Amino acid sequence: VDTVKRDLIRTALAGAGAIVLAPLAAGARVEGTGAPADGLPWKYTGLDPDATADRAYRAHRTGLGCCYGVFEGIIGQLREQFGAPYSGIPSELFAFGEGGIAGAATVCGALNGAAAAIFLTAGGTDEKKKARAFEMIREVFGWYEQEPLPDYRPGDAGSEVRRVAARSPLCHVSVSRWCEATGLKSFSKERSERCARMSASTARQAVRILNAERASSFVASHPLSSEVTSCRSCHDSGGVLEDTRTTMDCGVCHFSGETRHPE
Ligand code: HEC
Ligand code: HEC
Repeated sequence: VDTVKRDLIRTALAGAGAIVLAPLAAGARVEGTGAPADGLPWKYTGLDPDATADRAYRAHRTGLGCCYGVFEGIIGQLREQFGAPYSGIPSELFAFGEGGIAGAATVCGALNGAAAAIFLTAGGTDEKKKARAFEMIREVFGWYEQEPLPDYRPGDAGSEVRRVAARSPLCHVSVSRWCEATGLKSFSKERSERCARMSASTARQAVRILNAERASSFVASHPLSSEVTSCRSCHDSGGVLEDTRTTMDCGVCHFSGETRHPE
């Protein structure tokens, strides 16, 4: 058996959490929920946020980009600490997320990589664990949308990178608002540096949240704005219209110019 296969087997075993408690036999189910037994979350005993940021920055700069950068920044350390099950998931998988998934500029890859790392280390498919992990993931999103970023500077300093609040988890909006604010091009080396620092900042924030959760002190501090909450009260789940689903800031796309909400 080659190393990769051996690692995968180990992952399957260790991933089952306790083999005794939840055998990962095909079709194993969490009692009462119908959800597959997943062995999540995997072992997490805390990481240093700043070391994580440095590692994510360097990983991003290898050329594999934001999503790989953040996932490797966090999970690469856990792979070194614990081996299996982490050794069964190659960080390289997350190269797909570059440029908002294959350059399509949809969800920012730094957020995508952070979401994957959070779900693996603090999540699970049973309702309670999933809801908690989603709360943590949405807190990273809220932070990313609302804070002026990047707030990371590599050790070798380099030049200042202008901080801009993205107002959106979308790569397209995040990059273009930054380009508009700085006058720099979206395929420039400055933008590329900005995104490497975004990866560092995002990985650090995800680890701060994971550490807080571990210490039972995690509280979301970037809730939806009152405007978005109001829009969603009619247009989202349970609203009179219920014709949308999103926690994104509506005002970035709707009624930011001349058009007004119908009376
Ligand atoms: C009190 C309930 C309510 C709230 C709050 C509300 N809407 Fe609406 N919205 C409606 C209704 C009802 C319509 C449909 C109006 C129509 O078809 O004439 C509508 C229509 C729309 C449309 C379609 C517009 C168009 O031109 O056809 C958009 C987009 C929209 N709302 C976005 C928003 C956003 C963004 C917010 C928050 C800033 C918001 N809504 C807040 C009830 C609401
Ligand atoms: C990233 C941009 C973006 C964000 C953020 C966004 N929307 Fe939209 N929304 C769109 C687009 C694009 C459409 C499709 C418009 C069309 O085809 O006319 C749409 C469609 C809608 C429609 C149906 C419009 C119609 O013509 O009937 C409603 C209602 C709506 N959005 C409400 C919201 C609300 C409420 C929020 C925030 C909770 C929100 N949107 C956030 C881009 C966005």
